[in-house]
Amino acid sequence: MRLLEKYPLGNVTLANRIVMAPMTRNRAPGGIPNERMATYYAQRASVGLIVSEGTQVTAVGQGYQDTPGIYTGAQREGWRDVTNAVHAGGGHIFAQLWHVGRVSHSYYHGMVPVAPSPIPPPGKAYIPEGPLPYETPHALEVKEIAEIVGQFRHAATIAREAGFDGVEIHGANGYLIDQFLRSGTNQRVDQYGGSIENRCRFLLEVTHAVMDVWDDRRVGVRLSPGGTTNGAVDEDPVATFSGAISALEQLSALAYLHIVEAPVGTSGPDERAVCATELARSLYTGTLISTGGYSPESAEHALQRQLADLIGFGRLSIANPDLVERVRVGTTFNEPDRQTFYSRGDRGYLDYPTLATVAHNS
Ligand SMILES: Cc1cc2nc3c(=O)[nH]c(=O)nc-3n(C[C@H](O)[C@H](O)[C@H](O)COP(=O)(O)O)c2cc1C
Repeated sequence: MRLLEKYPLGNVTLANRIVMAPMTRNRAPGGIPNERMATYYAQRASVGLIVSEGTQVTAVGQGYQDTPGIYTGAQREGWRDVTNAVHAGGGHIFAQLWHVGRVSHSYYHGMVPVAPSPIPPPGKAYIPEGPLPYETPHALEVKEIAEIVGQFRHAATIAREAGFDGVEIHGANGYLIDQFLRSGTNQRVDQYGGSIENRCRFLLEVTHAVMDVWDDRRVGVRLSPGGTTNGAVDEDPVATFSGAISALEQLSALAYLHIVEAPVGTSGPDERAVCATELARSLYTGTLISTGGYSPESAEHALQRQLADLIGFGRLSIANPDLVERVRVGTTFNEPDRQTFYSRGDRGYLDYPTLATVAHNS
């Protein structure tokens, strides 16, 4: 089975082609990674690559309760315990570097959220006491954009010191980088807005800054050309993402491009919609990860067709700490429990049974 074959990612050899997709779990009170998180990731160390949950690069980049950060010494030490635990289990882990931009609320940090343009997202902000309307974000000034690029660079340094094997830049799902990419959320008239080249500038500046810290093919980028999460709309997403992906193709030292699979078209029904992974494959010759709705069978099929090199599993990785073993044996999978995706404590986090625990208890 191709899914279970080793894969050379830059100068690291992954044990298989299964990637645990990045998933926010809100289990870091105070923003500091902890022992519970180390146990969670260690349980899943048999996948070829773990991409950590989104981890904010600065305080104003946080948009949800108890998500971990990656900009202070205490956070670095917390993450070090996580990376040590994963490495002890023979695994590899990249940190997903995250800035939510406008998808935030002053509730979390006392500051006005920031964005390319002063347009609030649709819907309500998630606040523990109940949803609140989103605030109108502060439109970033050029010098503030440079500061954020510096924050990504700093976070990349912390990730390195914390023992991660690499970093993934979160350019997907309507967060800050995606807000710059899309015409619906970026209405700037300076060098960061307007043309596709200008809208890609922030993504590329962040990527270059992070690659200064990790110059050895340890930087991945995640994009969601087909998504409209968090009001990520674009007049012509095929053109926008063709531009972004072609620009990333020029960066030969990139470790991978990670695509969130969904049809790329206009926000309504669109017969011309194209498959996001196929679009990326046609423009990007390096390592491609595709994630979104895969079963092991459809993942294997995608690998056979060489549509992607690695396949990410989100919800299946939550529910099946021994996903690799289950794929190998060809058995059934535990169902993920949505109620505990973003809750607290061990339930739905550390207590999904493995085949070994089931055998032991029967
Ligand atoms: C609980 C949960 C949290 C998520 N958090 C993140 C995140 O922090 N960063 C990100 O890029 N995607 C995040 N995602 C999206 C997943 O990485 C993945 O793209 C999505 O679940 C689709 O894959 P699946 O069908 O295999 O679950 C999250 C998904 C889930 C279910």
